[in-house]
Amino acid sequence: MKAKSVPRKPEGRAVVDPAKEAMLLAALYIAQEQKGYLTEESVKQVAKRLGLTAGEVYSTASFYTLFRTEPVGRYVIQVCEGLSCYLNDGAERVVEYVSEKLGIKPGETTPDGTFTLEMVQCLASCGTAPAMRVNDQLYENLTPASIDEILERITGEV
Ligand code: FES
Repeated sequence: MKAKSVPRKPEGRAVVDPAKEAMLLAALYIAQEQKGYLTEESVKQVAKRLGLTAGEVYSTASFYTLFRTEPVGRYVIQVCEGLSCYLNDGAERVVEYVSEKLGIKPGETTPDGTFTLEMVQCLASCGTAPAMRVNDQLYENLTPASIDEILERITGEV
C-alpha cells in the first residue's frame, strides 16, 4: 500500500514560494537603500508589487536583522560582540571607544542623524577580530587608531 502524501506545512515562514521569497529579500534590500529603513509605504509597495500582504512582507523583514523598520543614522556602525571579538579584546573595548567618540550608546543615533551605533553577533570575521561594520563596509583588526581613522574618513565625507 502506497503511503498517502501529506503536504508539509512550512513552519515560521511567511512566504512559501522560494522564487517569490528571493525576490522579496532583494526588493526589501533595494527599498531599504532608499531611506535607510523600510517605511510603511515602502513595505506596502513591495507587497503590492509581489502580490503579498503587508503582513507577509513585515514578517520577513522582521526576521532578518539586516532589515530595519525604524529610522537610523546615515551611517550604521555595527560593533561585533561575538566570542572571538570579545576574546580578542574587542566588543566592550570597541563599543566603549566608539560610544565615547560619538557620544551615543548602542541603540542610539547621534542628534545630527549621522551615526547609529548597534551591537551585533558575529560579523563572520572571527579570524581578524575585533570587527565592526559601517553600512556595507567591514573593518577588521580594530584598534583605537584604526577606529579614529575610519570615523575621520566618514565624517570627512559628511
Ligand atoms: S565574533 Fe566577531 S566577527 Fe565573529
